[in-house]
Amino acid sequence: MIGPLAFISSTLLVGALAAQPSAPKPPTLPLRELPWGQLNFLHTTDTHGWHAGHLLEPSYSADWGDYISFAHHLRAKADEEGVDLLLVDTGDRIEGNGLYDGSEPKGKYTFEIVKEQDIDVLCSGNHELYQKNSSENEYNKLVPGFGGNYLASNLDIYDPDTGTRVPLAPRYRKFTTKNLGLRILAFGFLFNFRGNYNNTVVQKVEQTVKEEWFQEVIREKDIDLFLVAGHVDIRSEEYTTIFKAIRQVKWDTPIHFFGGHTHIRDYKKFDSKAYALESGRYMETIGFASISGLEPGKSDADVSASGLRYERRYIDNNLFSLHHHAGLNDTTFPTERGTNVSRFIAEARSELGLDKKFGCAPQDLWMNRAKYPSKNSMYTWLEEDVLPDMIRESARHDQPRLVLINTGAMRFDIYKGPFTRDTTYIVSPFTNGFRYLKNVPYQAAKKLILLLNHGGPILEQAFPALQSTALVPPEQLTAKQDVVIENEDGLSYAGWGQTPLKEGTRPTPGYTTRDDAGDEGDDTLHSPISFYRVPNCIQSQADFPEDGSEPGSVDVVFVEFIQPWIILGLNYLGQNVSTENTEAFVKGKDMTTLVAEWVQNNWNGTC
Ligand SMILES: *[C@@H]1O[C@H](CO)[C@@H](O)[C@H](O)[C@H]1NC(C)=O
Ligand SMILES: *[C@@H]1O[C@H](CO)[C@@H](O)[C@H](O)[C@H]1NC(C)=O
Ligand SMILES: *[C@@H]1O[C@H](CO)[C@@H](O)[C@H](O)[C@H]1NC(C)=O
Ligand SMILES: *[C@@H]1O[C@H](CO)[C@@H](O)[C@H](O)[C@H]1NC(C)=O
Ligand SMILES: *[C@@H]1O[C@H](CO)[C@@H](O)[C@H](O)[C@H]1NC(C)=O
Repeated sequence: MIGPLAFISSTLLVGALAAQPSAPKPPTLPLRELPWGQLNFLHTTDTHGWHAGHLLEPSYSADWGDYISFAHHLRAKADEEGVDLLLVDTGDRIEGNGLYDGSEPKGKYTFEIVKEQDIDVLCSGNHELYQKNSSENEYNKLVPGFGGNYLASNLDIYDPDTGTRVPLAPRYRKFTTKNLGLRILAFGFLFNFRGNYNNTVVQKVEQTVKEEWFQEVIREKDIDLFLVAGHVDIRSEEYTTIFKAIRQVKWDTPIHFFGGHTHIRDYKKFDSKAYALESGRYMETIGFASISGLEPGKSDADVSASGLRYERRYIDNNLFSLHHHAGLNDTTFPTERGTNVSRFIAEARSELGLDKKFGCAPQDLWMNRAKYPSKNSMYTWLEEDVLPDMIRESARHDQPRLVLINTGAMRFDIYKGPFTRDTTYIVSPFTNGFRYLKNVPYQAAKKLILLLNHGGPILEQAFPALQSTALVPPEQLTAKQDVVIENEDGLSYAGWGQTPLKEGTRPTPGYTTRDDAGDEGDDTLHSPISFYRVPNCIQSQADFPEDGSEPGSVDVVFVEFIQPWIILGLNYLGQNVSTENTEAFVKGKDMTTLVAEWVQNNWNGTC
């Protein structure tokens, strides 16, 4: 489909057979087999630039090159057995790892890497759309690179050359599978996202399904399966809407949904002929799904519901798992194309200096795996150590201030050990700077955090036009919450599907997924990890009076992303402030650089 990768330097010797040279050895753990069927899928989602894999976590240490080799072998196996294999990717391929964010322009290497995999159906996530230039990269690079496989059922872009509004990619794709001749109609959706830059237009899903083209195409006679790919939470209203729209005209045709965005492993049953798979995040998971009992060529009315079987497996993305499922070993597994891509990634990482060390983390700091507040919570560390220390050279540095950030500004845990240039992007890839409002009466300012965090009717009243769900880490968005963890403050926080772990018993912690098909979906048997909810926002007090008295007024400093909530919140609290009253706190500093500087100044020991 595309030409060979242009290697950065032919002299640089990277001797890896597969995976990245510094990748840890994968654990050897008991595995469940892949439940092959007639039509099989491999699914990735929310990779966020982690195409090099995880270099500090053995369970997720395989890279995109290994995935290319893996897909090659599974396709060969499908050909041998006379069944079919399709690859799906549901977006958010960018932002969140140095391999994407560390280059100028961003994504200099990502598109070449992604395009080397033969993906049958893919779509955009919300992250591709925050910046004008990132959505244009999709339009100019990825869409042409994938021919008609990139789909945009409810997404338009203003063409950068002509200024006309056009679909980002084709709305749908009809194709026939290679071996069984199954006739597939595929879509590529995005949830009802509102935070995109104004050069793209996201149409609400409930409007799209009413459009003439959609109503026409779902009525076509010769369809064996609807494949709905989407950067959409599989338990969302958007997917229910699409399911109902299809079922209204095709009561019996099999449907398979693939979703993303909430970064979890999940599998949902809509009816006996319609299921949805979500395959985690950050290249930790390769989702496998299958359907058997299909009868290609029969019209819907002839197919009986009883014969169909839908199955799923969540593969831990490491070479032990991939070798096992491919039935191959160190020597027989790597393909030339896969090895080339692994080498290209290694060279890009080296070119970008991603292993450059800023310091050494003395302990693990967790986003959701530790209670907040606690000494192992990343948010407590930010609140107590990093944020109060911020930006000493500011002219108003001795002014009492409140510093607020949303918890979703952080994207990944910090592991004990080297804190590298790569880590800075992994922990917080966002380029939002800090802004502030001068001299806000403290009696009002101190209530802001309560308003932001306590949600419910107050939040709805104060922020009717804003998507408050955008404040928290995406893992916390899911409706799949079945465990309640009691927090110190007496409030109940829901966790999901995972039970707290006893102290000192963590042989191989990892995903232990419970979904609509039970609790045997993970390919690797792990011990569970506890998961704690965090509030929308955290707040730090800096330079408050030493005698413990309350200041009359404070500066309210905040990460730019939450400015609309801060302004509306203060208005709600009776303060006459607007966007025009805000100023840059210190120019050129964002979460990424702030954390990197703090680490350099405070964690400068050796590992
Ligand atoms: C978009 O433009 C900004 C500002 O010029 C630049 O820093 C960034 O790397 C660009 N991003 C992409 C994806 O090209
Ligand atoms: C999009 O936003 C920019 C400012 O960021 C503005 O200059 C431009 O007019 C807007 N375009 C449209 C079509 O609203
Ligand atoms: C890998 O498998 C091949 C073919 O079965 C065998 O010849 C070779 O010795 C194996 N290599 C390793 C390292 O186990
Ligand atoms: C792998 O890279 C080599 C060296 O650049 C190139 O000659 C070869 O065609 C590539 N192979 C594949 C399958 O992409
Ligand atoms: C709010 O502030 C603006 C500009 O500072 C001023 O024009 C307006 O009259 C103020 N409104 C109220 C209700 O005080």
